[in-house]
Parts: sequence; C-alpha cells; structure tokens
Amino acid sequence: MDSTFVPFSFEITAMSNSQLIRPLVRSLHAYVPGEQPKIKGLIKLNTNENPYPPSPKVLRAVKNAVDGRLRLYPNPTAEKLRVKLAKLHGCKPENIIVGNGSDELLALAGRGFVEPISEGRVPRDPNQKKSGTRGSRPSEMVQYFTPSYSLYPVLADIHGAVKNAVPLRPDFSLPSVAELKQGRRWNFNAALTFVTTPNAPSGRGYKTSELEKLCRAQKGVVVLDEAYVDFANENALKLALKFPHVLVARTFSKAYSLCFQRVGYFVGHPGLITALDKIRDSYNVNGLGQIAAAATLDDLKYYRANFKKIIATREGLGRELTKLGFRVLPSETNFILAKPPLFPAKDWLQKLRGQKILVRWFNVPAVSDYLRITIGTPAEAKALVAAGQAILR
Ligand SMILES: Cc1ncc(COP(=O)(O)O)c(C=O)c1O
Repeated sequence: MDSTFVPFSFEITAMSNSQLIRPLVRSLHAYVPGEQPKIKGLIKLNTNENPYPPSPKVLRAVKNAVDGRLRLYPNPTAEKLRVKLAKLHGCKPENIIVGNGSDELLALAGRGFVEPISEGRVPRDPNQKKSGTRGSRPSEMVQYFTPSYSLYPVLADIHGAVKNAVPLRPDFSLPSVAELKQGRRWNFNAALTFVTTPNAPSGRGYKTSELEKLCRAQKGVVVLDEAYVDFANENALKLALKFPHVLVARTFSKAYSLCFQRVGYFVGHPGLITALDKIRDSYNVNGLGQIAAAATLDDLKYYRANFKKIIATREGLGRELTKLGFRVLPSETNFILAKPPLFPAKDWLQKLRGQKILVRWFNVPAVSDYLRITIGTPAEAKALVAAGQAILR
C-alpha cells in the first residue's frame, strides 16, 4: 500500500473536531465565487472574465518560461513587473506592491491597517442604534458602500473587524460628502474604506472629482478598487499619488485576460506600500504570473483594441436587451446590470441556464431584481439576445 495513503477513519470519532476551530472561523460565511461550470458548451457570462485570450506575445512568453526555472523561487518582490508598472503610471517602483490577484492585497489592507476587535469585546453594529454593549471603534472598522464587491464584508469578518456597510444612492451613484455627514452612518474615521470604482455589480462609473472629495474627507486608508477601470471613462490613479492615505487597486484579471495567473497590484504612498510589503507572503506572486503580466505591458495596443471591442459589444447588447424589455443600467465596466421583463431575475437565471447561458444573480435586496451579465464576444451577445427572445416567446 502507498505509504501516503490515509484511510477514511479518524481516531477521534466521538468528539467533534469543530471545537478545534476558532469561533470566528466556525461562524464565518465564505465568499461565494461565480460558478465554474463542469459541463462543456455553456456560454459563460457570470464572472466578468475577458472573452478574448491573452496576446500571442504573452502566451509565447509564458510558454518559453516553462522550463527548468520552475524549480526556482520567483523574484520575491516582482521587481521587473513593478519597474514596468511604475513607468506606465509615472511613479516609482516603491509606489507599487504586486499581489496574488488584487484580492490578496485587499485582504492585506485589512491586516495592515485595521485592528481586529479586541478579545471578549462585543462591538456595537454601527448601523443598529441600540444593540450591543459598547461603541464601535473606528480603528476596528472596515467600511464600504452597498452594493459593491461582495468580498469586502468577508475579508472584514475573517480579520475580525467591525463592518460598516452604507448604501449607495438608489441609482448606485455615490452619496456626496454632505449627504454622508447628514446620514450619520458613514464614518470619516474608519481605519479602512473600500470604494469599488467603477462600481460592481451596478457598472456605474464615478468621477475622479467626486472620489477626490470623499478621499479628502476620510481620515483612515481609502482603497479605490479599480478592477474594471479600463472600461471606464475616467480613472483615479492620480489620487493614489497625491494623498498619502489613498491606494488604488488594479488587476490583470479583467481587462488583461489573466484571471488564471492571479496578478493584481496597489499603487500608493511608499509608507503604506512598505507596510503591506512587510506582511505579505515572501513569494506571493508566482513566477509565470510575473512573466505574463510583464509581457502584457509590452503589448498594450492589443489590449486597448480589445477594450474597444468589449465596450462596443456592451453598448450594442444594451440596446438589444432594451428592445426586449430589459432595463439596462449604464455601465463603465465589462458587464451590465439589467432588470429583466416578465419573470423575476432569479427565474431568468434558470431559464437562461436552460438555454446554456450562465449569468449572475445576487440574492441581496438592492440588486435582486437584476441580472449581472458579463460582456462576451459579439457572437455570445447574439446568442444571449436569441435566448432572451426564446424565453419571452
Ligand atoms: C471589484 C473587484 N475587485 C477585485 C476583484 C479581484 O480581482 P483579482 O482577480 O485581481 O483578485 C474583483 C473580481 O471579481 C472585483 O470584482
């Protein structure tokens, strides 16, 4: 018998081993990623992946790197990539940290800037006026708008932080600083504030000028999560180079067709970047990912042409779905949020699946009437419209 074989009978059967797990982890609700289908032939418009492959130059660079080098550790600081990114953004490599996807960096921001709730203390939910025993402390607070990226509350829970979720306006625009002050739920001293810009899942874009006003008003760290910004009219990168408490998060996953390689980065003041650098894993970005991302930056023309194609498909699909009776919200991303006609959005999700099309539905009040649809190729958009027509027939 293989000596590594472990039979499926554990010695401690009488006792549940759940008591070995921290209570915080036991009660945790994990992040739910979009479905990765096991059956072939489905049109996958559910996780905001790019419908176009990486550039031929990137594929070549990765293939050429698959050799004896795989036995070596990669560069621990993704140095070449950071030098290239610094050149692209007109800053220094010290302004940049690269992560295993931007998700890793979002988690690091919690660990670097937010105090976990001290043991034995029950914090008051900042949005429930009378509950709990003591006031919540801004130093323990992760703050974000709702709806936005559904990972933020999970990261806050994992870290043991206080969550402060404050609604966007009903049309998913940003409340002004004056409105936030008036509403009293927003905390200008929160240790960490995440803003998804352009917003997900609504697709709504925000002006740099309004983000700047918000950043100016915040005392803690602000992460402007620009995962989809290459499909938007404006980006706020300059704010990360202007304010010492602002970080901009970017990813190679969406616009640069590299989800598989897991590469994202933060741009910001060296003070914050150095702090995060201290607490990341030593070799957090895999070698092939570093090579793929660096080669991507050598072929931006290819990607910029893809952005244009995706934006054109987005606008065309929006028009076609509107003709079918969908209420399509304006988008500055590679997806649209659309309220379908006749049946609830949840039913549409199943009906479209029946037509071999996967989209995303979120069971949260602000968007449960909508479907989030990733922009695919023009052929995929056509298939979606045909499926919509068939469902309505
Ligand atoms: C708003 C937002 N930020 C960050 C990410 C994570 O990107 P990455 O693949 O770089 O971890 C996503 C992925 O869905 C996202 O929607």
